[in-house]
Amino acid sequence: MNPIPKHIAIIMDGNGRWAVSHGRPRIEGHRKGIEAVENITMAANDLGVSYLTLYAFSEENWDRPLEEVKALMGLLVEFLELKRQKLVDKGVKFTTIGDFDRLPDVVKKAIDDTKKATANCKKMNLIVALSYGARAEICRALQHAIESGVKNVTPETLAPYLDTVGIPDPDLLIRTSGELRVSNFLLWQIAYTEFYFTETLWPDFSLAQLEQAIESYRQRERRFGKTSEQL
Ligand code: FPP
Repeated sequence: MNPIPKHIAIIMDGNGRWAVSHGRPRIEGHRKGIEAVENITMAANDLGVSYLTLYAFSEENWDRPLEEVKALMGLLVEFLELKRQKLVDKGVKFTTIGDFDRLPDVVKKAIDDTKKATANCKKMNLIVALSYGARAEICRALQHAIESGVKNVTPETLAPYLDTVGIPDPDLLIRTSGELRVSNFLLWQIAYTEFYFTETLWPDFSLAQLEQAIESYRQRERRFGKTSEQL
């Protein structure tokens, strides 16, 4: 059995469908989604996960209706302001990946305040992907590496320029809502990540479901390109 995953990444999908199935506006699905964010963050922390990366807003999500984008940004700020102290109390260090410059000032401020408040937290790292796209991240990293004088581009020399510098690659990637794709999330970092897909919509994703995903992961044989006999 594998030990508990050190790093879990989650594509939190299905908020819109949850809302539709309950006869509610889409934004109510996102509001329920935030409750799941809080519950799963605390559950992962209690289970001893060291890194939890949540895909909250992709680069492509900027193309959603303006009202929905505004509402999502508002919910994010609300979450950070209301839960900042809880993150500190539980030892959760908050960071982000993605194109920070593109975010509205009010969101940047809430993020900066939360990063500062949780800077010394040591129990778990909560990494929220915002305005994030993996292809753009890789291009930014390459551009930065070239500008910094890197001559010999290798996985090792490029890694320090990725948004995820210092963060180990995810052991387990979970996607909710039955969609079987990775949607431009952490393409570089998931080279040897184990995938877990569930039909459950994100607002309904619970501790029991998280434990089920972890159990599935623990039973996998991770060979990293080697043979079973070599392990
Ligand atoms: C996917 O559901 C979900 C999103 C695009 C947003 C997820 C964001 C949150 C849950 C809030 C994040 C906040 C924090 C604090 C991390 P969808 O709208 O694509 O659902 P659908 O596919 O059913 O329409």
